[in-house]
Amino acid sequence: MRMLSVILTMMTSVAAAHAAVSHADFGKLPDGSPVTIYTLKSPQVEMRVMTFGARVVSITTPDRNGKQADVVLGYDKLEDYVKDNKTYFGVVPGRYANRVANGKFTLDGKEYQLSVNEGTNTLHGGKDGFDRRNWTGKEIPGGVEFTLVSPDGDQGFPGKLTAHVRYTLQGNKVAIHYSATTDKPTIVNLTNHTYFNLTGAGSGTILNEKMTIYADKMTPVDAKLIPTGELKPVAGTPFDFRKAETIGARINADDEQLKLGKGYDHNWVLNGKMGTLHPAARVQDPASGRVLEEETTEPGVQFYTGNFLDGSFSGPNGKYDFRTGLCLETQHYPDSPNHSSFPSTELKPGQTYSSETTWTFSVEK
Ligand code: BGC
Repeated sequence: MRMLSVILTMMTSVAAAHAAVSHADFGKLPDGSPVTIYTLKSPQVEMRVMTFGARVVSITTPDRNGKQADVVLGYDKLEDYVKDNKTYFGVVPGRYANRVANGKFTLDGKEYQLSVNEGTNTLHGGKDGFDRRNWTGKEIPGGVEFTLVSPDGDQGFPGKLTAHVRYTLQGNKVAIHYSATTDKPTIVNLTNHTYFNLTGAGSGTILNEKMTIYADKMTPVDAKLIPTGELKPVAGTPFDFRKAETIGARINADDEQLKLGKGYDHNWVLNGKMGTLHPAARVQDPASGRVLEEETTEPGVQFYTGNFLDGSFSGPNGKYDFRTGLCLETQHYPDSPNHSSFPSTELKPGQTYSSETTWTFSVEK
């Protein structure tokens, strides 16, 4: 009897470590396909993710007084997500997150032309990127796994790619695991495009939040936001976030890179070792006390301050205006296929692309 109760206690504590998971219908896409929304709930965090774009819909956490708020930008209706093909709220961009110059790259001596959707660039995988796809979802312990099969030639990319994204929640930590395999050599770069506002979505700008980025260097860009290839030390520039700095303190400084990005919209070269989890960034919000810590196995992080948000989209708590959300997109560097000095984004048949990023939420008094 005693033994049984010990075993039962052990089983309950193991079960308690995982978030509770449930799912529901979230409506239908214009082509009639049904969208499912999953809720992951732990004592500290409630997170919702959906099949359309394999995206994060909401993350609710307490502030220093226990008051709950949704800290990511999004909508409450599927039709608003369908209409918005600009912001990439919460999505998993793919097959190649961020930019490929002129939508062109060469692999094994052959040049490929991708679908171009930002001037001459391919941004986030092209016109019909992974963000516009209805992934297949299935519950797993503590979370959900989304799967997408991208056919050979999809948006110009070679090879049939099978991609999986797993979101799991344990206590105050969200883990996102990405994996992919291909049947022909191709390129892959997956990330998550959630916009955080730690005071609460719709509460105003993110300019008073404090940012740390664990990087000594960044990749400067040209006028089309394509990396020049240089790895530039951040020391002595507005890009130095090695010690916590208020985001708005230097964002309007007279700096060529800030002007090109209309603010921060750049890739930082993380100090940690690629392939093992290392710190990427830390955001601390003096108003609410909320803290977000991000770790990743990726070599870079795109810190984007929502400089293209212009109030044309609104969520349940108000308008999404200029700089009201920030993204921390862990990734390989933008346009890597055209820079042989950058870590490679090639994937060959028989290899498995694997990448992990975690977000840990806490409060500071
Ligand atoms: C890019 C921004 C772009 C945004 C789209 C970011 O990853 O760096 O330039 O506007 O995605 O919402």
